[in-house]
Amino acid sequence: MAYLIGIDASTTATKALLVDERGAIVAVAASEYDFQTPHPLWSEQDAALWWNGTVASIRRVLADSGIDPAAVVGVGLTGQMHGLVLMADAASDAAGEVLRPSILWNDQRTASQCDEIRARFGKSDRLGKRELVRITGNDALTGFTAPKILWVEENEPEIYRRIHKILLPKDYVRYRLTGDYATDRADAGGTLLVELATRDWSPAVVAALGIRPEWLPPTHEGTQITGVVSAAAAEATGLRAGTPVVGGGGDQAAGAVGVGAVEEGIVALSLGTSGVVFASADSPIYEPEGRLHTFPHALAGKWHLMGVMLSAAGSLRWYRETLAPGVAYDDLLAPAAAIPAGSDGLLFLPYLTGERTPHPDPLARGAFIGLTVRHSQPHLTRAVLEGVAFGLRDSFELMKSAGLSAIRQVRVSGGGARSPLWRQILADVLGSELVTVNTTEGAAYGAALLAGVGAGLWPDGETACRETVRVTGSTTPDAGAAAVYERMYGVYRGLYPALRGSFERLA
Ligand code: XUL
Repeated sequence: MAYLIGIDASTTATKALLVDERGAIVAVAASEYDFQTPHPLWSEQDAALWWNGTVASIRRVLADSGIDPAAVVGVGLTGQMHGLVLMADAASDAAGEVLRPSILWNDQRTASQCDEIRARFGKSDRLGKRELVRITGNDALTGFTAPKILWVEENEPEIYRRIHKILLPKDYVRYRLTGDYATDRADAGGTLLVELATRDWSPAVVAALGIRPEWLPPTHEGTQITGVVSAAAAEATGLRAGTPVVGGGGDQAAGAVGVGAVEEGIVALSLGTSGVVFASADSPIYEPEGRLHTFPHALAGKWHLMGVMLSAAGSLRWYRETLAPGVAYDDLLAPAAAIPAGSDGLLFLPYLTGERTPHPDPLARGAFIGLTVRHSQPHLTRAVLEGVAFGLRDSFELMKSAGLSAIRQVRVSGGGARSPLWRQILADVLGSELVTVNTTEGAAYGAALLAGVGAGLWPDGETACRETVRVTGSTTPDAGAAAVYERMYGVYRGLYPALRGSFERLA
């Protein structure tokens, strides 16, 4: 039996997943940690946590399973996207060391650098943001990597001068595992430095931002072998020296591989604290205003569109903690099932932590709209579930307008997907079949599948997904409810534009 390992260096833990050649999970281990907020809006993490977590988790899955490490034929890497890892000058004593704590995806310090990036494009071609979106598929967002590099240049010039390489979080793990500087094209897309069409660093954007091309590691497709486990890393982890390590992908792309969202028309919807709508595309299409993220997918010849809602299941958690403390989710949701679709004309806006898609607005706020004395708590509960569904539908509408062909199936995962009521509301609001799948280990599982393709266990990613990912349940839209939601969605769409000015004044 051959085995694969998927490593996920996330914001809260580094996980190792041991999978056998048929795709069955053999062992899983995670090492948890925190991130720091040394100033308001900042979010940082020490890169050593990811490597220490990798070492501990690999050792644990090898020990728990008792397999021969020589039977591990490939390692796949995934992790939190967008984080900036700065590596020290190769010529200095500190060669191979990180220059400062990594600046993470959820760090919000770079608003002015994002404006600066748009302005730099605006000056040269008068097109501003649109030209940036045309090249990269994306607008400049505070979470992305490029504005963080500009921030370091402006605020920590002594560190900026010492930059030797720029890495993403999981690529720091790769460096420690193999000794090689390399990245994959899906994760690289999240830097804002990649040209969508060529899937490689954009000479125009890199030059416009004053970034030295030699700082950027070579890019690979997610299934390509980028290096092998070094003798030192073998000593540390217990893996065999020479074990191949593949490109892998950012957590969203690898997570999509893990649920089989690798074909156009199949969308992955993850309903965690945030809600992510991820659609595979066969060509580099993008939303011209940059309201969706567009990156290369982890499989060659595929791209993906992505919408991110900041408070999805997070809205329900806030609602329960604030208005129904101590009530179990099942007890809270059961009475809401008896309320008619549309909650008797009550709407909820889910912008409790601002929003990213479709309104990139940190000042946006949540609201209940349409309250009357006839509304009871179950109405409010149902309105929260429906409001999140409407907000997610916004991403689906943007994808359609960007040119994505018909969406055939939505593969739902995450804590919120455990509620049959919420799944039905989503199917009705989105007007699409919603399915659950057997693979629930997320991005680490996708990384293991990518490693399996690299190691030759499967000929390509599509085959790997077909042979391992199975549909376990299906929810189909109800025509009556869908018609009500169609009308309610029209009202929902009008609310943010009507309230934006008020939100700004309240903030
Ligand atoms: C994707 C994103 C998050 C991070 C952290 O754009 O910001 O998914 O990758 O998980």
